[in-house]
Amino acid sequence: MYQEIDLDSIQLNMEPPTGEPARQYYFMAKCREWVRDFMRNKGRAPRACVVNMGCQMNARDSEKLRGILKNTGFEEADTEDTDFVLYNTCTVRENANNKVYGRLGYVSSIKKQNPDMVIALCGCMMQEPEVVEKLKKSYRFVDLVFGTHNIYKFAELFVQAVSSDHMVVDVWKETDTIVEELPVERKYSFKSGVNIMFGCNNFCSYCIVPYVRGRERSRDPKDIIREIEKLVADGVVEVMLLGQNVNSYGKNLETPMTFAELLRQVDQIEDLKRIRFMTSHPKDLSDDLIKVMAESKKICPHLHLPLQSGSSRILREMNRRYDKEHYLKLVEKLRAAVPDIAITTDIIVGFPGETEEDFEETLDVVRRVEYDSAFTFIYSKRTGTPAAQMEDQVPQDVVKDRFERLLALVQEIAARKAEGLTGSVQEVLVEQVNDHDETLVTGRLGNNSVVHLPGSKDMIGCMVPVRLTECRGFYYMGEVVS
Ligand code: SAH
Ligand code: SF4
Ligand code: F3S
Repeated sequence: MYQEIDLDSIQLNMEPPTGEPARQYYFMAKCREWVRDFMRNKGRAPRACVVNMGCQMNARDSEKLRGILKNTGFEEADTEDTDFVLYNTCTVRENANNKVYGRLGYVSSIKKQNPDMVIALCGCMMQEPEVVEKLKKSYRFVDLVFGTHNIYKFAELFVQAVSSDHMVVDVWKETDTIVEELPVERKYSFKSGVNIMFGCNNFCSYCIVPYVRGRERSRDPKDIIREIEKLVADGVVEVMLLGQNVNSYGKNLETPMTFAELLRQVDQIEDLKRIRFMTSHPKDLSDDLIKVMAESKKICPHLHLPLQSGSSRILREMNRRYDKEHYLKLVEKLRAAVPDIAITTDIIVGFPGETEEDFEETLDVVRRVEYDSAFTFIYSKRTGTPAAQMEDQVPQDVVKDRFERLLALVQEIAARKAEGLTGSVQEVLVEQVNDHDETLVTGRLGNNSVVHLPGSKDMIGCMVPVRLTECRGFYYMGEVVS
């Protein structure tokens, strides 16, 4: 992992090194020079705002981008009306793209007032050639565009962009490198995401992620363990292991290993209190994984297990490679092994060809599994995916009606499930002072539910026993038990 590097000791009159991460340290030192020039001219440090728009993996990438900025001397801005704005984009659904164009409209008006402003875009949406074309044609005020495979080159690209008078674009189709040892600026002091793999090989027929994130690559377990040990030494008590399909971790390593084996190693790390992971694909969820979850005291009793659809026919069309029965059987095994487990999911409504009967199958699974919560999505057509070519796209009014019925059922069940824990005492990790009432703090149970309780900011990062005194739908009110 990243060791503090003395950027000022790097010789900038020499050619940049070719190997990584040394090359990026060189460009971080160059960035620092730019920052110093800025300070001389303006009498203050430049400010940067990194806007994260995607999933947990994108959020982790944003922490790495912020790490580089902080190391080179930028201050963090909490508004886009600032010196440098970087959008880390998502493209999983059409509305994610629309949001980006909306933000660009807004910052273009700011840049008119402040022409020195630097605007950059990176992340999944930049991997789509038609997006880059559109930016080049209609959003010429953007200074820098890069993709998901070369975010480690951010310092180098920034230097290039500020020394050029036109848009710098660097988007790679694919990569097999993983560059370790770059700085990271964590959002929370006590918990952290940890990438265990990148990319996805599953090609679910509706999904753009494999096209924009490339093929599956697992990190070396030694690097993962070392990173977590360092985080723990730095005060982290909870880690979230991240990958698009963590259950297939390790298949492409030189010495293959399973996700369950990795979890056993992480479980051994002293002073680490909680382990979470996401996302689990039902087709690869092994009995061994269920066993580790049951045995470990640190792995939280929560599993996010995306269903997508309850209809075996639609699941086949989605290329999910499991059916309704297999999914229900998994849930049964999980509940038998970890009785208090919370199960959450993702569901797509209105996949092409979805009939009322197919949709009823989804409702049936929701009733049987009784999810603790579910993210429900309206199917969004992604150009380039097989599903975009499918006939029988479901009419919008039908999709909307189904979506509302599903949401009502999910919410009714989630509220009923939450009620069940009222009165019990649970271990809570306190995460922050309550947003609306500063006499309260907010934390999470192992099962990921949120609880508010009387407390103060010195409790942040502590695990405390809390009695859940009242359930208010999707969250609890509680009090510390002494
Ligand atoms: N790798 C994870 C999911 C990543 S995307 C997994 O396989 O579970 C997060 C969620 O977005 C998916 O679970 C799916 O429910 C939803 N999603 C992906 N593509 C979509 C699309 N084209 N339209 C609507 N929802 C989509
Ligand atoms: Fe997309 Fe499927 Fe990969 Fe998840 S597993 S990222 S839904 S292709
Ligand atoms: Fe979005 Fe990319 Fe994540 S498309 S969901 S940010 S992997």
